[in-house]
Amino acid sequence: MQYTGIIGNPLGHSLSPVFQQAAFDHMEIEVSYELLPTEPSALENRVNSLRSPEFLGANVTIPYKTDVIPLLDDIDGEAVLIGAVNTIANQNGKLTGYNTDSLGFMKSLSNEAPYSLGSKHVLVVGAGGSARAVLTGVLKEAPSRVVIANRSIDRAMALKREIGTEYDQIIDVIALDDIDEHLGEGTFDLVVNCTPMGMKGTTNEKYFPPILKYIGPNTVVHDLVYNPRETPLISNAKKYSNLVFNGLEMLIQQGAASFKIWTGNEAPIEIMREAVQEKLYN
Ligand SMILES: NC(=O)c1ccc[n+]([C@@H]2O[C@H](COP(=O)([O-])OP(=O)(O)OC[C@H]3O[C@@H](n4cnc5c(N)ncnc54)[C@H](OP(=O)(O)O)[C@@H]3O)[C@@H](O)[C@H]2O)c1
Repeated sequence: MQYTGIIGNPLGHSLSPVFQQAAFDHMEIEVSYELLPTEPSALENRVNSLRSPEFLGANVTIPYKTDVIPLLDDIDGEAVLIGAVNTIANQNGKLTGYNTDSLGFMKSLSNEAPYSLGSKHVLVVGAGGSARAVLTGVLKEAPSRVVIANRSIDRAMALKREIGTEYDQIIDVIALDDIDEHLGEGTFDLVVNCTPMGMKGTTNEKYFPPILKYIGPNTVVHDLVYNPRETPLISNAKKYSNLVFNGLEMLIQQGAASFKIWTGNEAPIEIMREAVQEKLYN
């Protein structure tokens, strides 16, 4: 038996064990996907333990996606760009860090709304880790305008700086509170919510009404939140557009990319999707 799992703290909410284990079982690969809750003081030992031949590697989640970087032997280019690692692979004791969030987002987007972002206008709400992964994917497709709207303007500005001067001309940053004042008229081609607003158990949706103004019939709305299935942004955006999606497909696609890194096999996406839907929505 070999192992993989997820390193984070806390881990109670994680759905990765559900769909990754379903995938291993379906493929008859003898791997057990474990929860690996880890205190900050134990992170280095935890990461080093992955060098054992028993481990294929691990996923990494909040709050360690950046902290693991100096503990690894090599970092894949995409993870360097995003500045965070969500997947570690163990190859004969050598640990390499990857980030599959950007790929997961772009795959889910192309599955749901197959069109190019070239010359399009994109509104990204949020400036944390997932916003950075989303922007890394989006910017590769040469949109003509990207607005980063965040509660804290300082964090949005820092994200723009980190992305690099190459994109200075097309990226605007605004405070979410000023969205009405600064964005003027017109709709966006893609609106992505990269904040926990609307997540089950939260009541922090005051920013959605101003965002809705920028959604038209051709706007693709992608909420990275997937629980509840119909988030407040989704139910409201449906009044303006039919191209409205939650974050479930991104979750599956980033997990499928991790599965492929560990096993070399294409993941059984449908099995993974069914396992999560069963757990979350039934
Ligand atoms: N579907 C998927 O596969 C997937 C993948 C990754 C993340 N996610 C989801 O995406 C969300 C963000 O994750 P993350 O990793 O980017 O988190 P993060 O790095 O902690 O960033 C959180 C972002 O949300 C903003 N925010 C937090 N609470 C807010 C509130 N009450 N009102 C307005 N803005 C608020 C923060 O703004 P400030 O900078 O002002 O604090 C920040 O921009 C989470 O819900 C996560 O579950 C989904």
